[in-house]
Amino acid sequence: MKKKLTRFDLQRMKTAGEKAVWITAYDYPTAQFAEKAGMDMLLVGDSLGMCVYGYEGTVPVTMDQCICHSEAVRRAAPNTFVIGDMPFLSYQVSVEAAVRNAGRFHKEAGADAIKLEGGIRACPQIKAIADGGMLVMGHIGLTPQSSGQLGGFKAQGRTAETALELIQDARAIQEAGAFALLVEAVPPEVCKIIRNDLRIPVYSIGAGIDGDGQLMICSDVLGIFQAFTPKFVKRYAELGSQIESVFGDYIDDVRQGRFPGEEHTYQMVEGEFAGLLNLLENET
Ligand code: KIV
Repeated sequence: MKKKLTRFDLQRMKTAGEKAVWITAYDYPTAQFAEKAGMDMLLVGDSLGMCVYGYEGTVPVTMDQCICHSEAVRRAAPNTFVIGDMPFLSYQVSVEAAVRNAGRFHKEAGADAIKLEGGIRACPQIKAIADGGMLVMGHIGLTPQSSGQLGGFKAQGRTAETALELIQDARAIQEAGAFALLVEAVPPEVCKIIRNDLRIPVYSIGAGIDGDGQLMICSDVLGIFQAFTPKFVKRYAELGSQIESVFGDYIDDVRQGRFPGEEHTYQMVEGEFAGLLNLLENET
């Protein structure tokens, strides 16, 4: 049986140069398939707002939605390291709110760790959550919850000055007590510097091949998310088109009287149909 990784396994993998592979999951079936496939970690990302609920961004996502989806993922993947994603306003308002909401992921959903967005300005929250005995992962670069401030879903750290800010953010996050860091949509050379600079594992999503591992959004990899496809995404399948075509076949079959067939129906116990007709005939 697959053994759930610990933070020490992830640290050892970094030292050994072994890549950790993870993906987002929001529901029971996807998480079950991911565990069977041997995924190292699962992120119940607040990207569920866009991928599951059809919001334009992640800002409307609530704690209750995140907890509910994290519970389903936990049930489906008991042997995989599950990370809950702190939604907008669940940690920005105060350190106390951050600790309480991080704790909910552990208490209610059985998450192994939580992730939150932000660099130096998120460090008081990261420290408080870590001091509360929980595993917390940082997230810098393109941080979708502040996409308004960033001017949209845009690559970050493309100039020397902004790249240096990211490197300083990364160092501060490590010192605040994060066990790992996610770097999103930054040039690969910047991610490589951060990865070589930090003791903790540094993972990439859209930050090139030189991280200690790679995250992707399941709806992108499977070809289900239709609104847009970021440059850094590799679509391994086009399940969206396949689903549409399967639904079309089903509609045709029903309308043309080809479904359900005899093989999809239940038989009455032998002789009981005649008995039923008899009963109906004698009904008053
Ligand atoms: O919510 C999410 O899936 C994320 C990724 C975009 C990194 O935070």
